[in-house]
Amino acid sequence: MTTDSLAIIGGGHMARALLGGLLQRGWPPASLRVADPSVQARDYLGKRFAGVAVFEDNATAAAGAPVWLLAVKPQQMRPACRSLAGAAIQARPLVISVAAGIPTDSIAGWLDGAATVVRSMPNRPALIGCGITALFARPDVDAAGRERAAAVMSAVGEHVWLEDESLMDAVTAVSGSGPAYVFLLIEMLESAARAEGLDATTARQLALATVAGAARMAHEGDEEPAVMREQVTSPGGTTAAALSVLEAGDFRDVFRRAIHAATLRSRELARDFGDET
Ligand SMILES: NC(=O)c1ccc[n+]([C@@H]2O[C@H](COP(=O)([O-])OP(=O)(O)OC[C@H]3O[C@@H](n4cnc5c(N)ncnc54)[C@H](OP(=O)(O)O)[C@@H]3O)[C@@H](O)[C@H]2O)c1
Repeated sequence: MTTDSLAIIGGGHMARALLGGLLQRGWPPASLRVADPSVQARDYLGKRFAGVAVFEDNATAAAGAPVWLLAVKPQQMRPACRSLAGAAIQARPLVISVAAGIPTDSIAGWLDGAATVVRSMPNRPALIGCGITALFARPDVDAAGRERAAAVMSAVGEHVWLEDESLMDAVTAVSGSGPAYVFLLIEMLESAARAEGLDATTARQLALATVAGAARMAHEGDEEPAVMREQVTSPGGTTAAALSVLEAGDFRDVFRRAIHAATLRSRELARDFGDET
């Protein structure tokens, strides 16, 4: 076991995305370990990721690895952590959680205070390597630990650091739930295109390519999104006609309220899942 080995607890969607990304970035398969209770999941993982060690037992997977990544559902976090508490006392690992809504106080408590903990919030496009992950490190995580956590999560896309854990609820509302807002935009563009007489195939292609192209321009360009919007909006033109309908419908306020509702819901869910015992 090298000091760089990583044990992933839970072998579902997020674990598979991370394993794929890490292997693609040159992590040796022998440095990666994964545990999952389901025999079907283990069979799949063994075949899909040759050379990665696959385990039924969490503590065996984790034993000796200095970094553990917890990739189970939020409601599975407590039992998963409790199954690892003994191993944590031996290994004193760096633990990275990807579970939505579980506070680091809960994770540290469930691991009997024997781990340094980084909480992360990836989003759905991580499954194709295009995610954005927000990371929060507890004060006892040193610079090397932060670097390791960032290196792991970079396997599935970009990352940002938060210095205040409570902002994870806002992140959840913006980038966690965000892909759904973009999917809704695609749906709306597509159905409006059809209402204007375009056939279904053309409507889909126009909607998808427009969202992808505009997102890429905004991501790669130097201009502010508002400036880019103004550049495509001639006074009295077609874009201006559409935007004036959106503004009249208070679209910005509706959107702001939607994000706020998601932030509040994230806070409520965190209260349901987390505890410190
Ligand atoms: N998928 C996303 O887009 C996404 C985005 C952001 C954050 N996340 C976070 O990532 C985490 C994992 O999500 P996911 O979509 O990868 O879930 P998933 O596909 O359900 O994977 C979780 C895996 O862990 C296994 N498991 C259950 N209990 C376990 C235990 N005690 N020890 C070890 N493994 C156990 C599950 O087995 P069974 O199926 O047999 O229970 C399942 O194979 C969640 O906490 C979620 O909040 C996911």
